Amino acid sequence: MRWAWLVGLTLCACEGVVSGRTGGGAAGGSAGGAPQVERIDAGTLDGGVSTAVVFEALKPTCEGCHVFTSRPFFASLAAFESVIVSDPRWVVPGAPERSALLSLLEGTVNPMPPPPSLPFARLAEAGQTRIDLPQLAAWIRGLAPPGAPRTPPRLVRRKTAEQIARTLMDQLGLVEADFYDGAFNLRASDGYAVRSPDLTPFVDPFEQGGTLFAALGGPHHLEGKWRNDGITPSSLQALTHVSQAWCRAAVEKPGNRRVLRLASLTDRSATPAGAAAIRANIAALWLAMTGEPATAADVDDLFASVFQAYEPRGTATAWTAVCAAIVRDPLWMTW
Ligand code: HEC
Repeated sequence: MRWAWLVGLTLCACEGVVSGRTGGGAAGGSAGGAPQVERIDAGTLDGGVSTAVVFEALKPTCEGCHVFTSRPFFASLAAFESVIVSDPRWVVPGAPERSALLSLLEGTVNPMPPPPSLPFARLAEAGQTRIDLPQLAAWIRGLAPPGAPRTPPRLVRRKTAEQIARTLMDQLGLVEADFYDGAFNLRASDGYAVRSPDLTPFVDPFEQGGTLFAALGGPHHLEGKWRNDGITPSSLQALTHVSQAWCRAAVEKPGNRRVLRLASLTDRSATPAGAAAIRANIAALWLAMTGEPATAADVDDLFASVFQAYEPRGTATAWTAVCAAIVRDPLWMTW
């Protein structure tokens, strides 16, 4: 993480409109003579001002430090909208004069970009940004005030850390007591518990639950860590481990039929009756976990390339693999 942060800083310092062309980023350096950047058409900001346009226009100035860091506001439009635009600490819809985002950009408080770069307002004056402060003020003025009816854009988003944990528990028939005892000590060190570190009580001595929650992109408000609902290498890796451990726990939990709905651990693919039960169970599991009927191709694929591939290691392992494969399907991960 620290390494990625450095990359962000390095990129900022040598590239783009932020500081690289303003005289090597020298403190207070003059922006004079730097190439002009094409400004977005002011007309696009009149009336139904688009946050997407503002995002794209601000991004070149900010992304060097705000993509691969702990503050990835510019990693995606969704990140910008949910962390900056819809947080009244930064943007007060309809009221640019009360929007702290503009103060950062003006450089009156906590200037962005930070020194040694010039703050945004000065870069804008020097023609080195794609959007200027009056355009940003017009955009904020046009944003619907809170409480106004909003038609949310139809976006596909990945499940949040909370949604992943809740959905998996419901679908797999697991409960928190499968991971923690009454004193919130882990029952098994390899149980892959997931638990928000902001919840009380939180006495998990190895912080496994909190670490995995954060790896899945969950926030840690007590430590000031933002939510990250991007599909990142660490979130995919955490989801892989969690799905495998939880699917295994569900398969082995006595009396739990959530994974083994229409088949049992004694069904083997080598017998016609066993193969039929396994296929029927794959289809039922797919429907229960993704909410969509499985196609014949989905069933064939999971049967041959997952179940049968793992069957020599035991049917519990084969069903764990099938279940974990469904969790990592884009259909499962998004909503
Ligand atoms: C050279 C790197 C760099 C660039 C470029 C940069 N920032 Fe930042 N930004 C930071 C750092 C470092 C912090 C955290 C410092 C702090 O909290 O005081 C930060 C914090 C922030 C915060 C949160 C401040 C808070 O008090 O929590 C916002 C909002 C922000 N930046 C917006 C922007 C915007 C918008 C741009 C583009 C105009 C931008 N930044 C460009 C490095 C950068």
